[in-house]
Order: sequence, then structure tokens, then C-alpha cells
Amino acid sequence: MPFHQLIYASRPFGFDDAALNGILMEARRYNAGHDITGALICRPDLYLQLLEGPQDIVESLYQRIAVDNRHLEVELLVSQPVEDRMFPDWAMLHDPAQSWLWTAEEVSDGAIQRASNEDIVAVFERSAQDATT
Ligand SMILES: Cc1cc2nc3c(=O)[nH]c(=O)nc-3n(C[C@H](O)[C@H](O)[C@H](O)COP(=O)(O)O)c2cc1C
Repeated sequence: MPFHQLIYASRPFGFDDAALNGILMEARRYNAGHDITGALICRPDLYLQLLEGPQDIVESLYQRIAVDNRHLEVELLVSQPVEDRMFPDWAMLHDPAQSWLWTAEEVSDGAIQRASNEDIVAVFERSAQDATT
């Protein structure tokens, strides 16, 4: 399998437009230069990020992101080899979380921890579909 796919969830700390734009700018600059693509689903109670690319780069990037103080409770959900990228055209797609995602109440009640790998990946499949239509 040529690519590695990694998905984590976390809780934003100090979430506002300026913070988010800073993260996205930084992410896109680095990712574009390092063969990384993906998507960041964001809303005040939740970051859900998918990173994809060469395994060593994805894993070392995740190690840096995990200790970033702009979010808390970083939790690895999926880490697996994949045949194809889901976001080949996006250094980092920004997806303001849609209504079909778990509600804030469901999230605080552990919906993400209970979700299967397939459920989590399906969230991003939906996001990728929306991005191309
Ligand atoms: C939610 C979130 C998502 C991030 N996504 C990326 C990303 O996709 N690519 C990236 O290079 N940095 C991303 N960052 C920033 C990194 O955590 C880190 O600040 C950056 O890699 C610079 O690391 P350094 O200061 O150790 O060089 C993200 C940060 C947060 C809080």
C-alpha cells in the first residue's frame, strides 16, 4: 500500500477564526512541501483530522501535532495503510463540521470513542464527496 492514513480527534483550546487560520496556513505550507494531504473538520468542541501520505512523514507530523498546545485530549483513532488518497487535491481541506456529524452532546458522551474505524473513515468520505461536488 503506497500511502499511510492517520485520523485523530482532539478538543480545541482557544478556538477562534484567527487561531484556526493560523493552523491552516501553517499546515498547508508544510504539507504541500512534504507530500501530505488531508482534511481538518473543525468546530468549537472538536477537531477531527485526517493526514495521508508517506508513512514516516505522516507519523512524525502526528507526533508534532499531538503536543501542540492549541488542542487537548488528542486521541489517535485510525492509523492504517491505504491504496489511494481521499484528498489528493488538498494540502489541508478545511471542513466546518456539517450537520450530519455527531452533535456536541454525542461527542461529549463518547460517540467518537464508540465509533468503529469504518464509521470514522466514512465521515471523511462524506467530506471528500462534498468537497468535489
Ligand atoms: C488541529 C491542528 C492541526 C494541525 N495540522 C497540521 C498539519 O496538517 N500540518 C502541519 O505541518 N502542522 C499542523 N499543525 C501544526 C503543528 O502542530 C505544529 O505547530 C507545526 O507542525 C510546527 O511544528 P514545530 O513548531 O515543531 O516545527 C496542526 C496543529 C493543530 C492544533
